[in-house]
This record gives sequence, structure tokens and C-alpha cells, in this order.
Amino acid sequence: MPQKILSGPGWRQTLGLELAGQKKLLLVCGGSYDRLGIREDIEALPVELVRFGGFSSNPKYEEVCAGVELLHREQCGSVLAVGGGSAIDVAKCIKLYCRMDPARNYLEQEPTDSGVPLAAIPTTAGTGSESTRFAVIYYRGVKQSVTHDSILPDWAVLEPSVLEGLPLYQKKCTMLDALCQGIESWWSVNSTAESMDYARRAVTAIRENWRAYIIEADRTAAADIMQAANYAGQAINITQTTAPHAMSYKLTSLYGLPHGHAAAVCLPEVWQYMLSHVENCVDRRGAAHLRDVFDGIAAALGCESPSAAVSWFRGLLAEMEMKYPHGTDRLDELAASVNPVRLKNSPVPLDGGVLRDMYERILK
Ligand SMILES: [Fe+2]
Repeated sequence: MPQKILSGPGWRQTLGLELAGQKKLLLVCGGSYDRLGIREDIEALPVELVRFGGFSSNPKYEEVCAGVELLHREQCGSVLAVGGGSAIDVAKCIKLYCRMDPARNYLEQEPTDSGVPLAAIPTTAGTGSESTRFAVIYYRGVKQSVTHDSILPDWAVLEPSVLEGLPLYQKKCTMLDALCQGIESWWSVNSTAESMDYARRAVTAIRENWRAYIIEADRTAAADIMQAANYAGQAINITQTTAPHAMSYKLTSLYGLPHGHAAAVCLPEVWQYMLSHVENCVDRRGAAHLRDVFDGIAAALGCESPSAAVSWFRGLLAEMEMKYPHGTDRLDELAASVNPVRLKNSPVPLDGGVLRDMYERILK
């Protein structure tokens, strides 16, 4: 069934009605759950909650397995994720694995729809994971991208009050993740009219509201940024992300840079390079389409030209005091780390030498 997005105060009643008839619900949540104002609403749902919080911020395969075991032991009929991208990714994998053979490695089995109802309440405005069919977990230290249509949550609840207690740096990083996802989706070779509409809405809303959200902690702006992050999630659910995201993962693992921060330091380098190599465009719609896309992104950011938009983005990072990592001693390792599959979503090809040069400029 298509995803239902619940926003506004009616979500409590709607979700309650949807879950009525379920005996037990596996609640997948991190430690921040206890500080949430909506905790009482969740605990008032007409279903018994079984809490699972045994996962790390970069969730491990074994932690997901523990969640699957708990779901079976407690005979839970549905799953609710409340948290950031990690909690939602863990819940998605529990749903995907819970009807598979527990005696064999889940990652080696053919994924099928388990039919277990899944709801997600994001507590950050950034990943958009509540509206994607992707999850990331780690198996023996190696990142695993899990993709299946059935792990798109049946319900996504957008409740902006959860953003009020977020640390400022986390608000910045997650919002930048959403902005990068919106921009990358827009220029992706996989874009469609629908995905570009979501991307445009996301990028425009972030440009209009970022200052009030980050600097003034305005509630209306928080609701708009949460909606924007969800649009960006819906956009990448269609297109996937591109080179800046592909480049970011190793910066996170080597330098400990949070995901959105890492993607945001890569994005202007990729953007600048693509602007000066539009003629190399591999998008089937041609270079004229790509120029239109770059013009559209610039207009959404209130800029007169694509190069002014790149400057705007760099200025945003400076104004938010997002620091760059330093150290150019691992450039080859970084350039070799970039997943070629994800890179192929980019409209202008980037080879190893180009990637190395970009990392060098970021890390200088
Ligand atoms: Fe992301």
C-alpha cells in the first residue's frame, strides 16, 4: 500500500486506529525517547509496547538480529520506530528479516515482504528515512546498503515538536543532510518530474526557513524544515543520492564527521566541477537538461546563476560555522573508497583523479 504521511495533531488518533487490533508493538527507539514530549502519546496507543533500544548510531547486523529475536519472543505484530535515521533503519531491517530463516545470514537471503506493519516517527529533520526504501547497517565493519520496496514505512508521522530538544550542531548536520539530498536528487540521472518536484519543494523550504530554524529556533520554521526533510527523503526514494553522498561515507568513518556535515563539505566541490564540465553530461536527457536543472536549483536558492548558488552554499556553511576536516595524508584511500554504483547516479562522470583532487581541496 502507498505510504500514509501523518502530520498535524490528528496523527495520534489515526495511528491508534491503524494499530488497533495488534496485540503487541515493537518500539524501536534510542535513549532520546525518554526526553520526548510525545512519549505519552505513544504510550497511550491502544497496543502493548515492547521496547528495543539495543543498537548503536551506526547499527550493526547483530543488533538487528537481537531485535528480530525480541520481536519473535514477545510475539509482536507490528513495529514502530521513534528516533533518527539509525532507529528507523534498524526497524526497517527487523521488518525485512523477521520472516527469513534465522539459521542463515539474513544478508545472503532473498528479501521478501514480511507483511509486518511498520510506522516511523523521525526525531530529527534530515535523513528522510521515514519515507525511503533504504537502510544502512554494518556487517563486520562494512557498510551494507539494504534496499527493498517493502521497508518503506506504512506510516510516517511528522511531529515537529520533537525537534525542540535537539542539540544545535545536530540540527545543523541533519538539515544539511536534507539540503544535500534535495540538491543531489534534483541533478540525479534517475530524476523524474515527481522527484524533481519534491526536490524543489525541499530546497526552497530550507532556503526560506533555515535561519529561523537554526538561529531563532522558531517553531513554524521547524515544522517547515521537517516537511522539507521529508520531501527530500521522498525525492531520494525515487532517485537515490549521488557523488557528494558517495564521497561522504569515508570522511565519516575516517574523521568522525557526522553524515550531514560530511556530505555538505563534499557537495560544493562536486557541484563546481560539474558546472565546469556540463558538456561531459551522461544524463540521457542531455546537457541542456542539466543546465536547466542547475538553473532551477539556483532559482530555488534565490541565486541569479548556478555559480552564485555554489557560493551561497559555501556561505551557508561558513555562517553556520561548519568546520572542515584537515589532513591530506589519506587521499588515495579516500578516492578509492567511493562506491562506483552510487557515483553513476551523478550526471557528470568523476574519475579517481578528480575525486582525489576534490578531497585534497576539502582537507587542505
Ligand atoms: Fe544523507
